[in-house]
Amino acid sequence: MTHPRRRPVLLAAVPVAVAALLAAADPALAAGPTGTRGVGDPYFPLAGNGGYHVGHYDLTLRYDPARKHLDGKAVLTARATRRLTRFDLDLHGLKVTGVTVDHAKAAFRRDGQELVVTPRHALRKGRAFRVAVTYAGTPQPVTDPDGSLDGWIPTDDGAFVAGEPQGAMTWFPANNHPTDKSSYDFTLTVPEGRTAVANGVLLSRRTAHGKTTFRWRQTEPMAAYLATATVGKFRVEQYTTRTGVKVYNAVDPREATAAAPVLKKLPSVLDWESGLFGRYPFRAAGAIVDRAPQVGYALETQTRPVYDSAPDLSTLVHETAHQWFGDSVSLTTWKDIWLNEGFASYAEWLYAEQHGGKTAQQTFDALYARPAADGLWAFPAGNPGSGANIFDTPVYARGAMTLHALRTAVGDRAFLRILRAWADAHRDGHGTTAQFEHFAERLSGKDLDGLFRTWLHTAGKPDRP
Ligand code: ARG
Ligand code: ZN
Repeated sequence: MTHPRRRPVLLAAVPVAVAALLAAADPALAAGPTGTRGVGDPYFPLAGNGGYHVGHYDLTLRYDPARKHLDGKAVLTARATRRLTRFDLDLHGLKVTGVTVDHAKAAFRRDGQELVVTPRHALRKGRAFRVAVTYAGTPQPVTDPDGSLDGWIPTDDGAFVAGEPQGAMTWFPANNHPTDKSSYDFTLTVPEGRTAVANGVLLSRRTAHGKTTFRWRQTEPMAAYLATATVGKFRVEQYTTRTGVKVYNAVDPREATAAAPVLKKLPSVLDWESGLFGRYPFRAAGAIVDRAPQVGYALETQTRPVYDSAPDLSTLVHETAHQWFGDSVSLTTWKDIWLNEGFASYAEWLYAEQHGGKTAQQTFDALYARPAADGLWAFPAGNPGSGANIFDTPVYARGAMTLHALRTAVGDRAFLRILRAWADAHRDGHGTTAQFEHFAERLSGKDLDGLFRTWLHTAGKPDRP
């Protein structure tokens, strides 16, 4: 699906004086038809860029952990969705040494996280084009509005690379918003003895002159924030599951003992989740278990989640569930983050319920018992209010409670049918909260307005369902 959210074309309606003011504030606005500086996400206004869609990223990176130095070349294959005299990419830090559009040198300038590119000739609407950017430097992670680090995060033996919500732009120029999904090729060169792990399938691994080059391919469309190129000293395990999914696990040896019993369950977790949510959406799977205590979270990097230490089983279940909910079915706006985190959290509840742990009802009841002043009730799951809150408890726990309330209202069979059909209908695409609400009503034949209004959209602790 292409850009479901499009900024309304306001400029034509803006009075001349205001347009002149805008042009004075941003001279580039005077340059005529252009791409925009963001896709219009209210939580991250500069994230992504309007005016084009990236079909494919070809990233060639060399990383020297000792110097923390990255050399990169990114080749993006894109299509203009309007006439473009210039367009933006998102890139944070690093030094750009050259940009070409269709092999011709293009002018560029930096403006905060915007890399503004002016091709020699305007690109007409609908035209396919190729942008190549060469760059280098020491990647600087982003500090998110919630204070967490995000992006290319150095570790003692390499880098932990995770980009939710903003960090992709710390290591490659991107259309950095989940509305745009693309396929990826990675060619990653690191010192011999280190391993560089990206998404998808490993195509080749070659060592020469003290360096090893790993080539990875992510075929199914992926949002930029789900890309990784994690580097470290890893023990590698590779196998193919009974259903033909290629598994590649990379584990920091210091985490190996703790990780082993959990990683051994990955095939059975994939089977169990496929039984509930439908066919696993990708051809590759696995885990990257790093030692990165400065990070403090795991991320559902597509096909191969990255963990900052050996995960427990519940975390493995959570990140694996995201492959359906968040990765295959993507957000169109960060406000809808409960569609990722509420669903992955509810997968944990279901896993416990079906594996001799607490029932989902018991988990729900324990949460519901929290007093009205508890942080759990700080905001409704469907309205975190700002980018600073998108990983807060209400998104995860109240999000999962919303699904439990739905299950209670429609019954187990209809509920599971909804989850599965949702993943199937939006596979390799996008979904919004409003679409999910309609979808659940249509499949169950029930009026669920009140339920969703209460749990997703109304402040305060809801009445017991
Ligand atoms: N999506 C991740 C998880 O729940 C959390 C990522 C948190 N990112 C951050 N910058 N705080 O599994
Ligand atoms: Zn999650």
